[in-house]
Amino acid sequence: MTEVDARVPAVLGGAPAFPERLPLVRPTLRDVPGLTADIGAILDRGLLTNGATVRQLEDAVSERLGAHVVAVSSCTAGLMLVMQAVEATGPVVMPSFTFSASAHAVTWAGGSPDFADVEPERATLDPDRIAGLLDGAAAMTATHIYGSPCDVERLGELARDAGVPLIYDAAHALGSERNGTPIGRFGVAEVFSLSPTKVVVAGEGGLIATMDPDLAQWCRLGRDYGNPGDYDTRFAGLNARMSELHAAVALASFAHLDENIANRVALVDRFEAGVAGLPGLRIVRPAEGDTSTFKDLTMVVDAEAFGLSAPQIQAAFDAEGIDSRRYYHPPIHRQTSYDGKWDTPRPLPVTDELAGSVLSPPLWSHLEGSTMDRVADVLVELHRHASKVAATLEVD
Ligand SMILES: Cc1ncc(COP(=O)(O)O)c(C=O)c1O
Repeated sequence: MTEVDARVPAVLGGAPAFPERLPLVRPTLRDVPGLTADIGAILDRGLLTNGATVRQLEDAVSERLGAHVVAVSSCTAGLMLVMQAVEATGPVVMPSFTFSASAHAVTWAGGSPDFADVEPERATLDPDRIAGLLDGAAAMTATHIYGSPCDVERLGELARDAGVPLIYDAAHALGSERNGTPIGRFGVAEVFSLSPTKVVVAGEGGLIATMDPDLAQWCRLGRDYGNPGDYDTRFAGLNARMSELHAAVALASFAHLDENIANRVALVDRFEAGVAGLPGLRIVRPAEGDTSTFKDLTMVVDAEAFGLSAPQIQAAFDAEGIDSRRYYHPPIHRQTSYDGKWDTPRPLPVTDELAGSVLSPPLWSHLEGSTMDRVADVLVELHRHASKVAATLEVD
């Protein structure tokens, strides 16, 4: 019997697998001394915003994507600006199974989220569920969730036919590709996040990518109060500028994007192999021909087949010292902030089902393979002891 076979889950009195705790995510910055020197040089130059480093970041990302790129202070601010630019002041068709900021950006721009269901495999906005909803819509947004690209062809066609601007929340997807085309080239605009949980990190930050030079120019003005430089603001913009310091961090992180994604794919494969014998677990993967950043490693748990629900596994993980998240629970339409605010409520069965059954264990780009194996081993043990674990836990 191996050491792993002999372990008893921590909820049943065994020693925790990670007494030092395993966080959900850690930023990967491979050359901290080099980055520190870059930051020192920025401080020496004394120009902390509107400087060359932000432009360097925009140029580097623009070259990779083949799109215009505008750096902003966060993905949320970028989405707010784009929603304002397309005048999304009416109903905006969008998924509820995404992060709250997707809907908050719509709300801040004066629009009202009109939630539609997602498809079960990739958890992205389901083109089959939105055809009738676009009549009278001000815009549509869709999220490349966990980094898996949406069905951009069908969504694009529906948006074009309805004459509705389509904006992608690409918070998770800097580095993802749809059939060989980089995410960043679809819809009216796509907005990436560089917050600490993402594959490319700035500390905090975002990037608007668009094929439309006029929109890019509008966003450049919009991130700077709407001020073209003469203090005669052309519209009510934001302060959504990215600082030079954040851009330096983002550049250092972006330089290793391909290596980091390759590591994540290998870790996801390794985890999947480790849990391969277990019933009732599925890893969310991109469609055939697409690539994902795997911003998250997300499992969909069939509680009956596995013997434990996603919340029960989360509680058992916590006892083991393993951090995890139920991305995305609760879905936005069930959050307090949207209670009573959805004008045309409709059932979202796939969203509700997924929200109840997803769980994301830790993943970051420099995570050790052996650590990933230990997390998989814990799942094997939890399944083996499932009925006792379920009886011990207070969650269903
Ligand atoms: C899908 C999605 N959209 C938007 C955001 C907001 O990004 P930011 O924190 O850069 O504003 C996040 C952040 O995690 C996200 O997951």
